[in-house]
Amino acid sequence: YALQAHNTFGFNARARYAQGIENEAMLRAALVDPRTAHLPRLVLGGGSNIVLTGDFAGVVWLIGIKGRRLAYEDEHAWFVEAGAGENWHEFVAWTLEQGRPGLENLALIPGVVGAAPIQNIGAYGLEVAEYFARLTAIEIATGETRVFDKDDCCFAYRDSFFKQQGRGRFVITSVTFRLPKVWRPRCDYAELARQFSVADMPRAKPTPREIFQTVVAIRRAKLPDPAKIGNVGSFFKNPVISAEDFDLLLAHEPNLVAYRQPDRRMKLAAGWLIEQCGWKGGQLGRAAVHAQHALVLVNPGAANGADILALAGAIQRAVQARFGVQLELEPAVI
Ligand code: EPU
Repeated sequence: YALQAHNTFGFNARARYAQGIENEAMLRAALVDPRTAHLPRLVLGGGSNIVLTGDFAGVVWLIGIKGRRLAYEDEHAWFVEAGAGENWHEFVAWTLEQGRPGLENLALIPGVVGAAPIQNIGAYGLEVAEYFARLTAIEIATGETRVFDKDDCCFAYRDSFFKQQGRGRFVITSVTFRLPKVWRPRCDYAELARQFSVADMPRAKPTPREIFQTVVAIRRAKLPDPAKIGNVGSFFKNPVISAEDFDLLLAHEPNLVAYRQPDRRMKLAAGWLIEQCGWKGGQLGRAAVHAQHALVLVNPGAANGADILALAGAIQRAVQARFGVQLELEPAVI
């Protein structure tokens, strides 16, 4: 089964078997299917955060569980539920159309709803964890339905239970978000703050739609469209270092771009580190670094997983040599 259309790098890998999963019953049947029970399994949503390094000698479950609804509401919030296979961006747009804002900063992130909590997607000053209420998943080993609330998920920067102890053990089937009825714009992120300046130029509070449209415009300007050029967004996490290490580094690198974390540690802009090493717009074999954003590795056409990983390794070594900082991969390597 060709996976080229199911990974946003557009790699030409194949799976031994693939099966579309449209509801929980299909998933439960797939779990005990004697034809594939002994094979490795891969749960695939939008394929926008994976690097396929070769053919997959197992069964791929293509998650197509649909449905979006207002599950319930209380005095303070709407609880909106979506099937794991719903397209993330369309879901965000739909919540706004329904008059339930909150997720607008996360517009245009590729992928599906079910993948959002796994790596705690985030952008423009917001992480999905903030509006997360709970999710439903099926345990692969037992077929049992499990509900995970926010604490169960152990969310952190681009991280959750499902990337740690829970890795490979569950298939997320639906996610419920808690959208507060009192909406407040999230414009802390520099580019949004500039656009909707509150400090020096008092103006009408932006609407959720304005923020949505601005985020879409920023992303379109900086990030390559996976439909046109293969990529998985940021290829590395922004490294977080101690305040002490940061001060030492700053003495040598006064222009370092970094953001203080609530725990006082510093998150470095990996894109800046990579650009300083001369890799922005660079190329190694058939893989390349996006010319507009050094944190995004791209497949200009003929690259495969090994090409991308070779480029990633060269970048990691360059950043380590110059800054003594280890860059960690963001996507999952399969
Ligand atoms: N920068 C450079 N050169 C570059 C790119 C960036 O110097 O080539 C510097 C600039 O100073 C810029 C700063 O890095 O101001 C931060 O760049 P940007 O605002 O583009 O954000 P990012 O830290 O590179 C993170 C997320 C993105 C998310 C944006 C916006 C990670 C790993 N990435 O990127 O998420 O969209 O912030 O909030 O945290 C993704 O995870 O796939 C992703 C795209």
